[in-house]
Amino acid sequence: MIEKVTTKPVAEIATKATIAATASSTNPTGRTIFNKLNKPRKMLCPLVDHSELAFRILMKKYGCDLAYTPMLNAKMFAKDHKYRVRNFGPLDGKHEMDRPLVVQFCSNDIDELIKSCEYVKDSCDMIDLNLGCPQNIARSGHYGSFLMEDWPLIEKLIDGMHTAGLNNTCKIRIFSDIDKSLDYAQMCVNAGAKWIGVHGRMREQRGQATGLADLDYVKYIKEKIVSKVKDSEGIEEQVVISNGNMIYPEDINKVLEYTGCDAVMSGEGALYNPGIYNYTEDDDVTTAEGLDKIKNKVFPRVDFILKEYYEIVLSVKDQSPASMKSFKSHVFKLLRPFFEKELDLRNEFGPMNKIFDESEEFKQWIDKITKRIDQRIEEEPEMFKDEITLDDKNTTDEVKYYNIPFYRCQPYFRVIDGVKNNERFDIMKEEMDDKEAFLQKLKSKKQKIKDDY
Ligand SMILES: Cc1cc2nc3c(=O)[nH]c(=O)nc-3n(C[C@H](O)[C@H](O)[C@H](O)COP(=O)(O)O)c2cc1C
Repeated sequence: MIEKVTTKPVAEIATKATIAATASSTNPTGRTIFNKLNKPRKMLCPLVDHSELAFRILMKKYGCDLAYTPMLNAKMFAKDHKYRVRNFGPLDGKHEMDRPLVVQFCSNDIDELIKSCEYVKDSCDMIDLNLGCPQNIARSGHYGSFLMEDWPLIEKLIDGMHTAGLNNTCKIRIFSDIDKSLDYAQMCVNAGAKWIGVHGRMREQRGQATGLADLDYVKYIKEKIVSKVKDSEGIEEQVVISNGNMIYPEDINKVLEYTGCDAVMSGEGALYNPGIYNYTEDDDVTTAEGLDKIKNKVFPRVDFILKEYYEIVLSVKDQSPASMKSFKSHVFKLLRPFFEKELDLRNEFGPMNKIFDESEEFKQWIDKITKRIDQRIEEEPEMFKDEITLDDKNTTDEVKYYNIPFYRCQPYFRVIDGVKNNERFDIMKEEMDDKEAFLQKLKSKKQKIKDDY
């Protein structure tokens, strides 16, 4: 079946599908929904344990146009009331800041999927099918990226959502072969996905092996993909969302322009720096001087954003609480550069628990962070100057990096084989240019890849 789908010329499949489907008011097209939502261009990715209500609200305050929930498991969601309440509480999708919202499910069973969708469809704007989860649990449960070899099942799931009149999307990863990736995306769209999010990485690119996303694949898909539906003007342009390789505010426009996509979605970029989207078109985000002028918006101070996030967490905790696990994980990410230097404060935070009880201990700890920052700046004003500058050492014609004070949110670069990712751009690029060799290298590696995204 895969052979049949993959070898069919894309245009032929699309034409057939176009005849089958035209827009209707009860089942609006992807473009109609996108326009109705005011063309949300800056999106927050679905993030397990991280794109919970409180963080989504924080991101909305920081310029994000639309957010996804974490992946929810349709098998559990359909049948387990407790799971539903824990993962989609009364404020999810109902809080004034929580729209537009996309709810994401993983599934391999159309009945469970549709039942789950029924529960949330009036509290969100779109429902997404996860086709990208690379974790071992997705392999054993046969969902996420492990459906990439089971196109008939994907067709069934997407078609089922579409036929049920749902505003449905899906988020995919790429194959090593560019045309197979396009055929795969086209199959999803033909099955009825109204938007398609394309994460420009292969399933194997996870954890330490994440590396770069290949935006050439995303661009190719956006250029060639054909929408399933006709609107009054003819075949409408398919809504495609680009995912990957955004670490600084300027990357948003760069990616939009390069790929031609309708929107971008950010995962780790936003987790480490929720300020990534917090600028307007009048701001200059392409130079160090420009960024320096708006640094409080685009690289917020870690103590300020922590206070803000904490207040949001407390304000929603009775109805749609964040788990302690996700709260702590956010704090470690937001404060990553600070914690690297100020180990004693990191160690104080580690064992804290009763944080959600408006804990004085936690509030005092945040005050200590502020005092520590002031103290460092006072002691060594040159070294800890509050200024954004160009990182000359790692910046090349192809890629730009900035020096950001350690007390401001900023991108995190994983350390691979003892080298930080911002110092091994050429290696990551080589890996992308020869994906088969990269996959072979991964297979022969003795060290196991951590079970991660
Ligand atoms: C902590 C974490 C959790 C994630 N959870 C999900 C998820 O629930 N669903 C999903 O489709 N992708 C998930 N992803 C993948 C992201 O949505 C995104 O595709 C990936 O991080 C690449 O985007 P980035 O380069 O901007 O980080 C997760 C990634 C991370 C780092």
